[in-house]
Amino acid sequence: MENESIKKIYKTYSGVYDLIFKSFFHPRQKLAINDLDFQPGDRILDVGVGTGLSLPLYPETCDVTGVDLSSSMLKQARKKVEKLSLTNVTLIEMDACDLEFEDNTFDYVVATHIISVVPEPVKVINEMRRVTKPEGKLVIVNHFVSSKPWIARVENFFDPAFRKLGWRMDMNFEDFITSTNLDVLHTTKLNKIDLWRVVHAKNNKHLC
Ligand SMILES: C[S@@+](CC[C@H](N)C(=O)[O-])C[C@H]1O[C@@H](n2cnc3c(N)ncnc32)[C@H](O)[C@@H]1O
Repeated sequence: MENESIKKIYKTYSGVYDLIFKSFFHPRQKLAINDLDFQPGDRILDVGVGTGLSLPLYPETCDVTGVDLSSSMLKQARKKVEKLSLTNVTLIEMDACDLEFEDNTFDYVVATHIISVVPEPVKVINEMRRVTKPEGKLVIVNHFVSSKPWIARVENFFDPAFRKLGWRMDMNFEDFITSTNLDVLHTTKLNKIDLWRVVHAKNNKHLC
């Protein structure tokens, strides 16, 4: 899906996103972010920050930057930042495929529920890796097609419909790891049957 179509879709979602998706997405964000070993002064980038559901999860002692393609989603995130007085957060409209940051800027780069939305996931991961410090970490939350054939068949069947809604349902975890060369530290799930995974990876910068 092209960026213009993505912007249109998320403009439509922006006002109701939290209402529809918060109860579903936020527990996975908590799982992904809560056990990270943040140090005061760490720099964190949240790629595709959306309405900013993840923002209160980061320590106030860290410097957080959230970027998103959609100005409408960012508008909702700005309201949250103001309401919660998150003085450590900066929000910028930016394409994850072309991050306007120097190499080796961030200690942690986090992307929740965005990899299946972008047309070029490998490019996004390479950009995330580039802007992460060599000893930094990449954290990804994403849907991956089930290893159970009958569930995978259902997901693949609905994939064309979900693409119209703004994301794909056919991403295979092993193919994703191979194509991105991610150096996975560990993966977790909310529960055994969850189709979304939390992936923590080292920044193997030399593979960028
Ligand atoms: C499903 S939402 C996830 C938002 C948030 N991370 C969450 O977990 O609630 C996907 C977000 O990715 C953003 N997005 C899509 N393509 C993008 C791109 N190329 N660069 C930056 N953000 C993008 C959309 O605007 C949207 O806010």
